[in-house]
Amino acid sequence: MAHKILLLKGDGIGPEIVDATVGVLQALRERFGLEAEVEEALMGGCAVDAYGEPLPDATLALARAADAILLGAVGGPKWDRIERDKRPERGLLKIRSALDLFCNLRPAALHAALADASTLKPEVVSGLDIMIVRELTGDIYFGQPRGIETAADGERVGRNTMVYTEREIRRVAHAAFGIAQKRARRLCSVDKANVLETTELWREIVTEIGRDYPDVELSHMYVDNAAMQLVRAPKQFDVIVTGNIFGDILSDLASMLTGSIGMLPSASLDATGKGMFEPCHGSAPDIAGQDKANPLATILSLAMLLRYSLNEAEQARRVEAAVSAVLDGGLRTADIQSPGSKVVGTRAMGAAVVAALR
Ligand code: IPM
Ligand code: MG
Repeated sequence: MAHKILLLKGDGIGPEIVDATVGVLQALRERFGLEAEVEEALMGGCAVDAYGEPLPDATLALARAADAILLGAVGGPKWDRIERDKRPERGLLKIRSALDLFCNLRPAALHAALADASTLKPEVVSGLDIMIVRELTGDIYFGQPRGIETAADGERVGRNTMVYTEREIRRVAHAAFGIAQKRARRLCSVDKANVLETTELWREIVTEIGRDYPDVELSHMYVDNAAMQLVRAPKQFDVIVTGNIFGDILSDLASMLTGSIGMLPSASLDATGKGMFEPCHGSAPDIAGQDKANPLATILSLAMLLRYSLNEAEQARRVEAAVSAVLDGGLRTADIQSPGSKVVGTRAMGAAVVAALR
């Protein structure tokens, strides 16, 4: 049976980068026998404009029915001032939570041809290959109570709650150990156990689960130190597992080690491997509609979609090899340009990847 893929193009550069990626998907169907049906729905600011809410029920129903979801990006200044519950970002959080996509994989691997695109010295980052496993449906992002209240004396108080249940920690820890087993078998759990009880529990449970994985070397690091170590000596890491908010911050940091956030894909998976796949970067409204955005993070997200949700590892490798070939050939989008490289736009980059598919 054909796989069902739902496209959520979203806002800003979302439509352009997804269109470039659909070109790649199309080529896999026509030239390499991939059986996939594609549908499209609205999420984010575009859905607010059309339906008055960022995640319409119809979109969520299609998302539930799909085998995998490919997302561009959501949000933009146009929707920053509307009622909090209707902001595009809320749509994203709601779909993650509704589909129970608790396991967020954010690889930060440096492509050899891009060693000089990083702001760090080439010797610090060359050969870098880190996988960040970010818990995605708990923590201070979802904890109650939350909100902004006015106290009796008229002063306003903002409040969010950092909370993790044992079950939430366990399942993401198991996922992270499993991933570490397939890589260099080193797992670093990042927390702030010296201050926050939530993460004291995190450390305790990750340690306990570690006993089931004697082949994986487990270490623990406080998040402030982890931020420093990622910039100082990033190659010491193999797999990092951490909570929602620390993972949000550290994954942006890690992306710059690889030259550009425009290169990094992500997967958000449920317990069965179904998932939503999106570039780590945002909707970049400043360059939207100008054919300037780098589509490679989205194209590499398609590769993750093929591998993790559709079990099409061969097709995934094909896409990744095509991206490598294009970079090796010297083609660049503006965000990853270097002296001597040829700078092209979104469409031309997408077309080059299609042409390089073998
Ligand atoms: C991300 C983004 C989102 C997050 C925002 C847009 C809600 O920064 O996917 O990292 O914080 O999770
Ligand atoms: Mg983020």
